[in-house]
Amino acid sequence: MKNLTVKKYLFYIIPFCILQGIFVIFSAMTAFSSDQGVMAKIKKATLKLDKATQVETGIPLPKNIVKANVEYQGGTFFTETRKREVTRFKCSSCHNVKKVSIQNASDMAHADIKVVHGDKSNPLSCDTCHNKDDRDLLVSSNAGKIDLDHVYDMCGQCHFRQKKDWIGGAHGKRVTYWAGERVVKNCTSCHNPHSPRFEKRWPKTYSVPLK
Ligand code: HEC
Ligand code: HEC
Ligand code: HEC
Ligand code: HEC
Repeated sequence: MKNLTVKKYLFYIIPFCILQGIFVIFSAMTAFSSDQGVMAKIKKATLKLDKATQVETGIPLPKNIVKANVEYQGGTFFTETRKREVTRFKCSSCHNVKKVSIQNASDMAHADIKVVHGDKSNPLSCDTCHNKDDRDLLVSSNAGKIDLDHVYDMCGQCHFRQKKDWIGGAHGKRVTYWAGERVVKNCTSCHNPHSPRFEKRWPKTYSVPLK
């Protein structure tokens, strides 16, 4: 009688325990190895951020961006392109070898542009920023030329402090998250170069002043 219970035990309980053990191990394995698994997430999170393709940024990179000419702490970043936003680009479609002999032609062509930038009584001249010999490009003090997409290099020749802040991310605005490739707004995404000061605005709602 006693022998029988031991046999029963061996026949039913032990195989049951082994099966259950296999089931637990198997389900744990699938949970940890699948894409959504904890281990997969930990592995991803410890990848270097520079290899941005391997990190989920949450939102896709915007299309019209260009790699900045400058680096921040050894890392590259991107900024918004500008040329496709500029209605009268390419300038060289008019500014070419053919001379314009009409009087006040520049007023007719660009009367909408009023420069309110620099000294009040002596604002910056067009040629301070726009290259005289190649209107498609901007002026660089070291005799080079600056592409409109890299306008931050032109502004930064005078506003070097703001440019430094912008490179570090303290001035301006990010378009993406910090994870993955950093994409920031360009200077002229926010500032009108001809009149860079922002209009003063009242808040939409405010408390009535106390009497
Ligand atoms: C539709 C034709 C046209 C386009 C496009 C155009 N311009 Fe002009 N622009 C003119 C004409 C015409 C003048 C006057 C004659 C001249 O200086 O050649 C002029 C004059 C200028 C001047 C001299 C203004 C002055 O007061 O001395 C600047 C600077 C200038 N353009 C910049 C640009 C830039 C930068 C672009 C491109 C973003 C551009 N233009 C695109 C037609 C054009
Ligand atoms: C502080 C530098 C600066 C000065 C001064 C300046 N510009 Fe510009 N201008 C720019 C930049 C930068 C852009 C490109 C703006 C952008 O990225 O949206 C531009 C854009 C333009 C455009 C194209 C605008 C459009 O949307 O089609 C014209 C035309 C132009 N400038 C003409 C002039 C003329 C004429 C003067 C002088 C009266 C002048 N600029 C003075 C920097 C300057
Ligand atoms: C040749 C030098 C020069 C360049 C290039 C230049 N600026 Fe300026 N900017 C000035 C000066 C001078 C002032 C006036 C500073 C002041 O009043 O304290 C000024 C003022 C400003 C201001 C403050 C306006 C205000 O009154 O509060 C902004 C914003 C600005 N610039 C943005 C830009 C941007 C954006 C660019 C490039 C598209 C640019 N600047 C290119 C010389 C320059
Ligand atoms: C996301 C928008 C944004 C971008 C991008 C941006 N700025 Fe500004 N900037 C501002 C605002 C907002 C102010 C504060 C304006 C005010 O107080 O009226 C400002 C102020 C300034 C001033 C006035 C002095 C100061 O520091 O308050 C300068 C000069 C200036 N910016 C230059 C630049 C230059 C150069 C770049 C590119 C390298 C740039 N900004 C990029 C939004 C921007």
